[in-house]
Amino acid sequence: MDGLMKTALWLVSLANILKAAQGENIHFVGGGKYNWAPNVNFTEWSSDEHFYVKDWLYFGFDKNMYNVLEVNETSYEKCIDTDFITNITKGGRDVFQLSEVRQYFFISGRGFCFNGLKVAVNVEDVPPKPSPSSPKNASSSISCCRVCLLLTAFWTFVSPFILLLG
Ligand SMILES: *[C@@H]1O[C@H](CO)[C@@H](O)[C@H](O)[C@H]1NC(C)=O
Ligand SMILES: *[C@@H]1O[C@H](CO)[C@@H](O)[C@H](O)[C@H]1NC(C)=O
Ligand SMILES: *[C@@H]1O[C@H](CO)[C@@H](O)[C@H](O)[C@H]1NC(C)=O
Ligand SMILES: *[C@@H]1O[C@H](CO)[C@@H](O)[C@H](O)[C@H]1NC(C)=O
Repeated sequence: MDGLMKTALWLVSLANILKAAQGENIHFVGGGKYNWAPNVNFTEWSSDEHFYVKDWLYFGFDKNMYNVLEVNETSYEKCIDTDFITNITKGGRDVFQLSEVRQYFFISGRGFCFNGLKVAVNVEDVPPKPSPSSPKNASSSISCCRVCLLLTAFWTFVSPFILLLG
């Protein structure tokens, strides 16, 4: 029973590892779970990240203070919060999927955009997927290698427990 549990847990973790290796990342805007706030340098944050199609943005904030609106470039530059494209604000732990290869612009209304509460995100095409049928493709082999390393590390760590109990 215990061994079965361990195996089940292992399979769940394996699924998570594979999912993480495949992409579809979530980006915590500003670098943390509660960082949609005026004291964060979002230009610095977004230039350190790579955004790919289907990735998610997570905005964590005090909904009584701030909001999140998708706007066009002009509105982003000038902090215009009327006639926005999308209102992303819900409960203050809000997500948004980047579905196209383009630049996205987000601001907070209520004047906070003028204090720097705005971010521009440049979405790139999905990186080439690891494919076992093209082993000569350099970037694919690197990705495969990464998955193998993760699996090996994980197996080394967990297998003693499974052998012990199962
Ligand atoms: C944010 O960081 C960038 C790069 O380090 C810097 O050039 C810019 O002046 C900073 N912006 C603010 C508002 O501090
Ligand atoms: C951006 O949106 C504003 C407000 O809706 C609009 O007046 C302006 O024409 C738009 N600019 C562009 C370049 O689409
Ligand atoms: C955005 O949506 C939220 C939740 O539905 C709502 O409370 C808020 O008033 C909206 N903001 C704007 C600027 O429309
Ligand atoms: C990898 O292979 C795919 C499909 O053959 C190709 O489109 C892609 O450009 C290749 N990538 C590299 C880095 O060679």
